[in-house]
This record gives sequence, C-alpha cells and structure tokens, in this order.
Amino acid sequence: MRILITGGAGYIGSHTAVTLLDRGDEVVIVDNLSNSSAEAIRRITAITGREPLFRQLDLRDEHLLDEEFAANRPDAVIHFAGLKAVGESVAQPLRYYAHNLDATFALLRTMEAHDVRRLVFSSSATVYGGGQVAPYTEDDGPIVSTNPYGQSKAMLERILSDVAEADPRWSIALLRYFNPIGAHPSGLIGEDPNGIPNNLAPYITQVAVGRLDEVTVYGDDYDTADGTGERDYIHVDDLAAGHVAALSWLADNTGVRAWNLGTGVPTSVLELIAAFEAASGTEIPYRVGGRRAGDLASAWADVSRARKELGWEARRTVSDMARHSWNWQRNNPDGFATAARPLTDGDAP
Ligand code: NAD
Ligand code: WQD
Repeated sequence: MRILITGGAGYIGSHTAVTLLDRGDEVVIVDNLSNSSAEAIRRITAITGREPLFRQLDLRDEHLLDEEFAANRPDAVIHFAGLKAVGESVAQPLRYYAHNLDATFALLRTMEAHDVRRLVFSSSATVYGGGQVAPYTEDDGPIVSTNPYGQSKAMLERILSDVAEADPRWSIALLRYFNPIGAHPSGLIGEDPNGIPNNLAPYITQVAVGRLDEVTVYGDDYDTADGTGERDYIHVDDLAAGHVAALSWLADNTGVRAWNLGTGVPTSVLELIAAFEAASGTEIPYRVGGRRAGDLASAWADVSRARKELGWEARRTVSDMARHSWNWQRNNPDGFATAARPLTDGDAP
C-alpha cells in the first residue's frame, strides 16, 4: 500500500514511517518541518534501507498538497500534523484552533478531490478531559476539554464523524494516544522537543544527560499509591503498530470508530524516574514541587476495544521505554542537531 503521512518527520510520524517501510509499504511524507528536522528523514532511510518520498509543505497550502496527491495518490492517509503543546494552546487559542482545523480541512478536501477516503487521525487521551475515573473507555469521550489543544482534537473527532456519517465511502480511525514515550531501539530517531521539555520523559532524559539540573515532581499529595501522578506511558513503536492495525481495519470497514492506544497500566512519576535511573545507570536528581495547574491524579486506558477489534496490544514495558529513550538521548544529546555523529554508533538495543 502507499500511505501518505502528514507530520511524518515528527516524533510519532517518523516511528510509524519506519514501521510501514519495514513491512514493505510505500511511504510519502509531507511535513512543513515546523517542529522537526529533515535529519529525521535521513535517519528513517538509514534504519530501513528504504527512502520515503518526502515533500516539505504546509498542509494549509492546499495547492501544493493537491499536487502531491496528483503525483503520488495514496491508498490511505495517517494525519499526525498539527500543533500539540497544551500550555501554548492556552496562551494562543486562535493560533491553535485555526492551525489544527484549517490543516485538517485542507487535507479532507484534497482527499475527497482525489477519491481517497481512508484516514487515521491522531487524537489524544486529552479528549477525556478528566471528569471520569480511570481506566477510560472510548465511550467516556470526547467531552469539552480544559484547553484549546484538547478541544481542537475533540472538535476534529466530531467533524470527522460528521464527514463519515454524510458519506458512507469514508473509513476513519480516531486513535486516542495516552502518553507516548520511548524511541526506536537503534537510537537513531526519538523525541526531539524544542527548548525545555514540557513532558516528563524528555525532561528526565535531559537531566540524565546533564542538559538540565533536576526534575521537578509536580506534587506528591495525590490520591495515588505513592502520591505522584499516574499515567499510561506507551512505547512509540507500539503506537506505530497500532496505526498499522488501524489501516487494516480501514481496508475492511467503513464509518468512523475511536480506539484508545495505551497499555492499560498506570505508572507514577517516581516509578518512571526509577525506570530511567535503572536504564541509564545514573542517579536522576529530583525535588518535589507543587501541583501543575490542570493536572490529573490518574489517567490510563481501558484497552479492551483495541485488543478485540484491532487485534492490537502494546508489548513493550516501561523498562523498554526508558532504555530506548535513554539510548536515543545519549547518542543524540542535542537531538537531531547532533547530526555529525556516525549513524550506526549506538549501543545494541
Ligand atoms: P510532532 O510535533 O513531533 O510531529 C508533528 C509534525 O507535524 C511535525 O514534524 C511538524 O513539523 C508537522 N506539522 C505541524 N503542522 C504542520 C502543517 N500545517 N503542515 C505540515 N506539517 C506540519 O508531534 P508528535 O508528538 O509526533 O504528535 C503527532 C500527533 O499526535 C499530533 O497530532 C499530536 O497532537 C498527537 N498526539 C501526540 C501526543 C504526544 O504526547 N506526543 C499525545 C497524543 C496525541
Ligand atoms: C506526566 C506526569 C505530571 C513534567 C500531556 C498532554 C496530553 C498529551 C501528552 C498530547 C504528570 C508529571 C511532568 C515534569 C512532573 N499530549 N510531571 N514533572 O500531562 O499526562 O499529558 O502530554 O495530546 O495532552 O497534556 O504528560 O508528560 O506532561 O506529565 O512531575 O517536569 O508527569 O504532573 O503527572 P500529561 P506529561
């Protein structure tokens, strides 16, 4: 199959591109590189020995997108591209709503124009908002989210459901990711946040590698086993496999359907720090601070629907996630800016 990946130079998109190339699919990546590097495309090629087609474009430039569909009409699309920082979305709501919606509208119109109606959409556990009790089932959401980023995902889920309802030729998978972490075992691709990371795992690895001094644990007085926040961390390669499973569903079904992609297992902040200490053999200094506004005590997935309907489940452990994230960070202390280092100079996975 030929799969077009929007945002395919980004964190989850690059891992998904590797998984698809490894199983023999043709991959077309479109990305404006606003939050990624062309180096990721070279690394995808180094890992797989196969070069994806890559076109640097912004989805909102519909004319260019149309040219790409005309030149390389895909069988299906996986749509990762968008803005994703929760805090930034609170500060810049117009930018977030406009970007995430406009980019998706342009993509949907172009798909229709080229008679391509199979779509996997990157949604998020953030569409559950937090009013419910974990584990979340798909029927718990989407609800009104507490931030514009999450709300843009909930709105897009609704828009995509309306599109599928109006025209039964569409088949659309809404994948609600929990907390993706980890990296490809080669250490050649991984998460490469701009500036100081907002999320826990990249923050920990940057402390472990000496770029940051210590982790601040956002509260240890939650009603959880050790008092710190619990999340459902999922290895990015398991997530990538979930997209492959969703593509199979699209080939056999029409309509729209949502699935949680998580492990179904909660891990606390302190447990994650301990897993990274074991993986890196380094002590990771931390101090306990106050709670972060808007944080939940616990969020994890009920994964039974994906297991039953997609035949997919996460296989990798938190220890695998920590080992692979650390391998990526250690080999690329400055992320993709560390491009001078020889590509195969990583530890065995
Ligand atoms: P990422 O920022 O690493 O990747 C997104 C890619 O899209 C980047 O390469 C960026 O340059 C590109 N892009 C952004 N706007 C674009 C546009 N208008 N046109 C073309 N390219 C554009 O993010 P990620 O972590 O890989 O996330 C991928 C998707 O998954 C996003 O939609 C995100 O909201 C969703 N998601 C991520 C997480 C997470 O924790 N990483 C969790 C749940 C959902
Ligand atoms: C995890 C845990 C923090 C940083 C966010 C988005 C969500 C989704 C994934 C896209 C929490 C604690 C964190 C730190 C800490 N993205 N923490 N010190 O908040 O679950 O989800 O990313 O869809 O929408 O909201 O992930 O990694 O920020 O936090 O103690 O420096 O780590 O309080 O308990 P979160 P996170």
